[in-house]
Amino acid sequence: MDKLVIHGQRPLKGRVQINGAKNAVLAIVAAACLADDVCVIENIPKIADIDNMLAILRSMNVQTEYLDEHTVRIDSRTMVNCCADSDEVRNMRASYYLLGVLLGRFKYARVSFPGGCDFGVRPIDQHIKGFEALGAEVDAKSIIEIKARELHGTNVFLDVVSVGATINIMLAAVLARGTTVIENAAKEPHVVDTASFLNSMGADIKGAGTDVIRIKGTPYLHGSTYAVIPDQIETGTLMIAAAATRGDVVISGCIPTHMEALTAKLLEMGVRVTDSDDAIRVRMNGAHRAVNVKTQVYPGFPTDLQQPMSALLTTAHGTSIIQETIFESRFKHMDELIRMGAQIRVMDRTAIIEGVTSLYGAPVTATDLRAGAALLVAGLMAKGETEIYEAEYIDRGYEHIESKLRSLGATIRREPVEG
Ligand code: EPZ
Repeated sequence: MDKLVIHGQRPLKGRVQINGAKNAVLAIVAAACLADDVCVIENIPKIADIDNMLAILRSMNVQTEYLDEHTVRIDSRTMVNCCADSDEVRNMRASYYLLGVLLGRFKYARVSFPGGCDFGVRPIDQHIKGFEALGAEVDAKSIIEIKARELHGTNVFLDVVSVGATINIMLAAVLARGTTVIENAAKEPHVVDTASFLNSMGADIKGAGTDVIRIKGTPYLHGSTYAVIPDQIETGTLMIAAAATRGDVVISGCIPTHMEALTAKLLEMGVRVTDSDDAIRVRMNGAHRAVNVKTQVYPGFPTDLQQPMSALLTTAHGTSIIQETIFESRFKHMDELIRMGAQIRVMDRTAIIEGVTSLYGAPVTATDLRAGAALLVAGLMAKGETEIYEAEYIDRGYEHIESKLRSLGATIRREPVEG
């Protein structure tokens, strides 16, 4: 158990390099097992969720090896289709990708229900809808069991725009007989990156990034070497931290077009944001204006940035309103911000934030990954010392976050928590 200890009000200044996208890598390392071959995946962030996913694959006799800190070799020629019901599976949302991969490759899957951050109910009915449309029989009681004599192309119209379901149906469809069309598909950058990776393995996927994706089934896939896109949410978190500390930070190795919804909001607040082809500079001095934020599916404002953004809004001039339209309860971090002096009222999926002059350091606890990111931003902008307990949540999605922030001038250290 660790805590992060921050002395706030140090403006972040300098340049920081973004790591690979967690939510692309989690899908891609699973997708690599669709080929009875070897894949090399580059630009992988060194974070807990990826280690967990690789451990799950190793438990199925997949050979995984780090060729360097950010490159993994995945050899799935020895993969055994055994039941995946470990703690890693039950603790992570992305373990649902095993369903699509095992069904696609072996026409049989037996996997525990996925875990993940607690934002309320997180069903997988749309994943199951897609698998059944492909010809599978699904029995989802105490464990999820899926089998199919063969998988055939189909049309699926998603009732909800779901990142996981879009990717999972792609994973199950790439080796099916015939063409599958997913309508009302998610368009997030990690959906596009997963489709690009599958195409590099010999798949035939068109339309990723739009709301209609066509997957023409192929008889087999081959290995591939592939570099993952930079992480949109890490980029956004650091952009917000730069603004929150009235700093001047260049975030390099990112894709500015992935950040347009956040950039527009920061500009609306009076933050100075300028970008080049693979870097974004964020500068802020003086007061920032209150704004309203409504989370949407891509290319709208990402739900994963709602939490860190709420920390920035606690000291904006005026009243900000945040509407969380994607998840039913993603405001657990607001109580911790209130402990630091924020003035926030939560009503169902809406948070009303009255700007205060400053936050004050306090002992706070992360309740999920992006709640932890929000507390990081709050600690960086608060007067005095903030201790963030359950720092392991933050490690699930941010590589070496304290050394990145220290390199930008933050006073932050990690300490073990006794007991
Ligand atoms: C992915 O979760 C991400 N996780 C989440 O990031 C992210 O917040 C979310 O997409 C939205 O962008 C990974 O990629 C591992 P959804 P996922 O299916 O796939 C409902 C982070 O911090 N829904 O797009 O679970 C669902 O309840 C994490 O990196 C159904 O109703 O999200 C939600 O309301 C947190 N039925 C909405 O759709 C389903 O079958 C969007 O969920 C599936 C989803």
